[in-house]
Amino acid sequence: MNITNPLLTWIACGAVVMSAPVFAGDGLTSLRGDTPIEQSSPAPEISSWKQDDVAVERNFAEQPPLIPHHIKAYKIDLRSNKCLTCHNRAMAQKTGAPEIGPTHFRDRDGNETPGVSPRRYFCLQCHVPQKAVLPLVDNTFRQADAENQTQRQGSQ
Ligand code: HEC
Ligand code: HEC
Repeated sequence: MNITNPLLTWIACGAVVMSAPVFAGDGLTSLRGDTPIEQSSPAPEISSWKQDDVAVERNFAEQPPLIPHHIKAYKIDLRSNKCLTCHNRAMAQKTGAPEIGPTHFRDRDGNETPGVSPRRYFCLQCHVPQKAVLPLVDNTFRQADAENQTQRQGSQ
């Protein structure tokens, strides 16, 4: 096929995709269940956020702790960072929030930064709130054992 116009290429690809067989019902299932591809699958139930303020146990030494409170409307952008209004050094004592640790004030070469390091500014890259739901797929994950964790922390 010698198609030089990119639009035509897309149309040609679309035709191939559209003529592909539909596999639902052939023993293949996905997270959306057995609903045929042309039908909408039922929406999952809306579960609520964990917001009991109880710290979630960490599973391995370097794990960013999970967020045990709601984060609704906590904005993070170039000008403001709502998380820091409670978690930065100056405010932590007043708000009772755990203070962000020394690793949050280091650049990638290990040099101390005067404020929160840019690579730790967007908190939700690493820290995430939780919902009380069952895992979507089974897994065999096991928590690192306590002895192992202490050894690794000691070597930091
Ligand atoms: C109004 C103050 C406040 C704001 C804003 C806030 N936090 Fe918190 N955070 C707390 C307090 C207090 C705790 C201690 C546990 C609790 O009471 O929920 C906490 C706990 C945490 C923890 C658990 C720490 C641990 O050791 O288990 C993480 C992670 C965290 N917050 C991240 C965030 C992030 C990310 C944001 C922004 C999206 C944020 N927080 C915004 C007050 C706040
Ligand atoms: C690149 C990943 C990353 C980003 C981004 C990040 N953190 Fe963390 N955070 C961690 C890790 C990993 C830990 C666990 C211990 C450590 O390294 O300090 C941690 C620990 C914490 C703790 C617990 C401190 C303690 O001593 O118990 C708080 C609170 C926290 N972070 C808040 C924040 C807030 C607020 C932001 C945004 C300003 C943020 N973090 C951005 C990775 C991150």
